Amino acid sequence: MFSRLPKLPADPLLGLIGLYRDDTNPNKVDLGVGVYRDEQGHTAIMTSVQKAQQIHLETEDSKTYIGPVGVPGFVNGIKSLVLGAQAQAVTDGRIAAIQTPGGCGALRVAAEFIHRLDKDMTVWVSDPTWANHVPLIRSAGLEIKSYPYFDAATGDVDYEKMDQQLAQLGPKDVVLLHGCCHNPTGADLSFEHWQRITERANQQGFLPFVDIAYQGLGDGLDDDVKGVRWLSENVKEMIIATSCSKNFGLYRERTGCLMVQAENKQQAEAMQTQVQDLARANYSMSPAYGGFLVDTILHNDALRAEWQQELANMATRVKALRAGLLEQINAQGIDKDFSFITRQKGMFSYLGINPEQVKRMREEFSIYMADSSRVNIAGLNTHCLEYVASSLKKVCG
Ligand SMILES: Cc1ncc(COP(=O)(O)O)c(C=O)c1O
Repeated sequence: MFSRLPKLPADPLLGLIGLYRDDTNPNKVDLGVGVYRDEQGHTAIMTSVQKAQQIHLETEDSKTYIGPVGVPGFVNGIKSLVLGAQAQAVTDGRIAAIQTPGGCGALRVAAEFIHRLDKDMTVWVSDPTWANHVPLIRSAGLEIKSYPYFDAATGDVDYEKMDQQLAQLGPKDVVLLHGCCHNPTGADLSFEHWQRITERANQQGFLPFVDIAYQGLGDGLDDDVKGVRWLSENVKEMIIATSCSKNFGLYRERTGCLMVQAENKQQAEAMQTQVQDLARANYSMSPAYGGFLVDTILHNDALRAEWQQELANMATRVKALRAGLLEQINAQGIDKDFSFITRQKGMFSYLGINPEQVKRMREEFSIYMADSSRVNIAGLNTHCLEYVASSLKKVCG
């Protein structure tokens, strides 16, 4: 029976991991996989997380089921972290929320929730978007389409084109937005764009759905969600999927949160039963460990301050690498405007070179990146900037 199903091709980005590992060039640079790395190329456990692990080890006294919501202190902490401690929607009890297995778990339950609302809904994603959005949404049975987003000529968002598409949408549409640090392009919506999207959502009646996986890795914990908070304050209903993989470095602990903002408390209570029911039908309940760690950090003043500082240091390092790369590129005198590198936010940028040039970067210079030319800026370090820039010069001419 199993012969009916073929072997699937390997994920191209995961394929790069193997190629990089086997590459013997001492100057090799891995800009492929999207994890934060320090100057030594290591994805270290944050010190605040290590301390929370120690506390957890000393205080956990049972492994019984945690319950459908997940760790309550985690879920409440994430609501405040994303929407603000004083957010009206939170204090009014309008947010239904569950802990999920990573941001992907939140996105997947959200997609099934949308399907349950109306199986004929269309989810609109940015062009381009994070590759995994497509299977996560499509396999829940929803149609997926893309709205114009990235302007390859400038490296910025083409908001007027995006808006033209949003103006055509209606109540059977869901618009998936990246909360900050757009993956894969690094081109973010401005606060004014978020205000205009809010107006459009209210005018056209589409449902906003925000994926936020990099809070704190752009301009700071609060600044990164300024637009999301505006949206939440000014629409009745929306969905938010968050991830603690990057900003707490909890990748393998699969720690995320799904929030559904309803019009009133009564509806939020009903939506709470719906998302719990969907989780139950999929995986019953989320793994608890990462939630305990985040709860401990967010509700301990000293640990929270330490975590915020570590996160701020990570964001500062990424910004410094952006500035350093641009400086080296300019010093090489490459005949192409790369100034978008310092305008873009978070870990990713599209270098805007073609697949042939990407291949040359890999094969001739051992510099690995996705075929789209998406680079993980955090994969750079101060010592390789000149090498990467000079290789780019050779490839771009
Ligand atoms: C845009 C975006 N959303 C969501 C996620 C989900 O991450 P995870 O499931 O590892 O928490 C990621 C991870 O790379 C991402 O880039």
